[in-house]
Amino acid sequence: MDLQEVREKAREVLKGICRVCVVCDGRNCPTGVPGIGGAGTGEGFRRNIASLARWKLNLRVLHPRKIQDTTFELFGHKLSFPILGGAIAGAKVNFGGRLDEREIARALVLGAKAAGTVALTGDGPDPEVFAAGLAAIREADGWGIPVIKPRSNKEIIKRIREAEKTGALAVAIDVDAAGLFNMTRVGQVVEPKTAEDIIEIARSTSLPLILKGIMTVADAKVALASGAVGIVVSNHGGRALDHTLGTADVLPGIAAAVKGRLMVLVDGGIRSGVDVLKMLALGADAVLVGRPLFIAACGGGPQGVKMQLEALAQELTVAMRLTGCGALQDISSEVICNVM
Ligand SMILES: Cc1cc2nc3c(=O)[nH]c(=O)nc-3n(C[C@H](O)[C@H](O)[C@H](O)COP(=O)(O)O)c2cc1C
Repeated sequence: MDLQEVREKAREVLKGICRVCVVCDGRNCPTGVPGIGGAGTGEGFRRNIASLARWKLNLRVLHPRKIQDTTFELFGHKLSFPILGGAIAGAKVNFGGRLDEREIARALVLGAKAAGTVALTGDGPDPEVFAAGLAAIREADGWGIPVIKPRSNKEIIKRIREAEKTGALAVAIDVDAAGLFNMTRVGQVVEPKTAEDIIEIARSTSLPLILKGIMTVADAKVALASGAVGIVVSNHGGRALDHTLGTADVLPGIAAAVKGRLMVLVDGGIRSGVDVLKMLALGADAVLVGRPLFIAACGGGPQGVKMQLEALAQELTVAMRLTGCGALQDISSEVICNVM
């Protein structure tokens, strides 16, 4: 099985949900939210792609860096590369029950582990969503990071206790899901979080706490001051709120404010190793990839996810070599330029 076959299989499996486009850019999605696309007009999703596309690379090949080292350390754990699997969950709501929640979570978590990296798992109104993620992480001996919706603190801490039992590497809250209608509609509270709320959550666990869905310097500073150890600069793949900026628009400002004091992760529209290099040059420590890995999971299970991640890492290696970078620390704003 090669990646082309994985994508062809995914096209069959995802008929009516996702067209498995040559480039997943949100321009031709048959579904929005619920589904695979973006919220509303889909502008937030497309903006992620556009905000990355305006950055170009400075090709540089007269240099001594003949070997490229992509290894990356996440909270004391060595990863093969700075590319993590994003949380893609909610099979019943998003895919009409056609896909199995446990199989998706398992493919993402085990595929990422097999590639030497780590995946995040999701949460949703159906308890099966969070349970599926934890089951996959347990099977991977704790090699995963569960993301919990911004529920009441009591409900979050209850789920953190469950996450701790799996031996998870860290725990995250997708704070940008505070307006998620599919939760409130069925009586499950999601809410904006105050600094005091985050302090209480951070103090409740010894696991590193990551806040996902940070799009402003102000929120990044609250995360830092409240005991989070990492953030994901993310607009939820354009699914939380229409017409947000792209993540590559806001990343440089956020990284300038908190990098070195918080682990800065980013997602949204990352489709190639070149995109990974751009995000690292814009200030991220590492990236998360969402939809392309989900497609690989649907077409090839854990093996498909592993292959897709390794293809991205291979492209990153080439991009580093051709921009004069030997290690991740060499990737700076000097490798890119903004043409618009
Ligand atoms: C169908 C679908 C389900 C998702 N479910 C979750 C979730 O449960 N928790 C979460 O934090 N993010 C969730 N996300 C957002 C992704 O983790 C990630 O932020 C986003 O997909 C990144 O953008 P990309 O898909 O363009 O790479 C979901 C995204 C999609 C497309």
